[in-house]
Amino acid sequence: MKRQNKEILSLNDLALYSEWPARLLSIDFFRKKEKNHSEIVREFGNDKWGKLLDFFKKESSFLLSDVENMEKDLDKIIPCYDHSIGFYLTQSRLADLEVLQYYKKALSKYVENASCLVELGAGYGNKIFKLSEHKSFKHLDLYAAEYTDSGCDLISLISKNINKNINVGKCDFNNLSLSGIKIPENSIIFTSYAVHYVTELKLDFVKFLDQFKPIAVIHFEPCYEYFDEKTTYGLMCKRYMDLNGYTKNIATSIQDGCKKISANFTAHKNIHGSNPFLPFSIIEWTP
Ligand SMILES: C[S@@+](CC[C@H](N)C(=O)[O-])C[C@H]1O[C@@H](n2cnc3c(N)ncnc32)[C@H](O)[C@@H]1O
Repeated sequence: MKRQNKEILSLNDLALYSEWPARLLSIDFFRKKEKNHSEIVREFGNDKWGKLLDFFKKESSFLLSDVENMEKDLDKIIPCYDHSIGFYLTQSRLADLEVLQYYKKALSKYVENASCLVELGAGYGNKIFKLSEHKSFKHLDLYAAEYTDSGCDLISLISKNINKNINVGKCDFNNLSLSGIKIPENSIIFTSYAVHYVTELKLDFVKFLDQFKPIAVIHFEPCYEYFDEKTTYGLMCKRYMDLNGYTKNIATSIQDGCKKISANFTAHKNIHGSNPFLPFSIIEWTP
């Protein structure tokens, strides 16, 4: 079936395109993961960003799209979820564009009075670099902080190659630390698929971000608490986060943190997922 020109799938069809339904139902064995420092360093520091860094530091010149092409197969047909469509099949590069559209729409509301755009847990900077190409964000200074050294180094290397200035620092959502950059007041701060790597998010997370006096903070993160326990799909998403050792208290911790500082809190739940079992919610708060 087609809707909005997309090949629509049912929940049952997902088993044809993803190994996850069998894992989630314990038909296929999957060893439960724990996200700790050494696991993050293995996954991102060494296997993902480390390998990309090793390759691209030997190249004389390259584009951001070269890094993306090496990171994953952008032509691959993958199952996705969107709150307005349901499950559907699409090409990985189109799925990335759809995600970016949501980010642009949410972030651009605040650009008028903003001093800069900041991404925390930025990986190799893919999202912030891409957003910076869009006319709404072109005039904003860029700041990115990341947990792994290789991620930070790759952001700096890409920045030189594409000739785009970005201030790079290190951050850790576990101990709520930021070093190497000073975030100016009136920034727009965002996180994307990065906060769920901590075991338990501290209540002081909001207070930690609020010290930078941003005009808005937006989290594009999967939120365990927002998956509906009364649906098969919601339960599968919860189980997915369980098995992967992802954070279960992002939404509640941010909402409670906002209450403490009397910030405005808005949540748009389970908006979109290029992995259908890990859709992001958009949590926005303004001090
Ligand atoms: C899936 S990637 C997302 C990267 C980027 N935000 C994006 O959306 O393309 C997750 C990132 O979170 C970072 N991360 C993991 N643990 C973190 C922590 N405790 N504090 C900050 N970032 C962390 C990882 O190093 C990795 O770069």
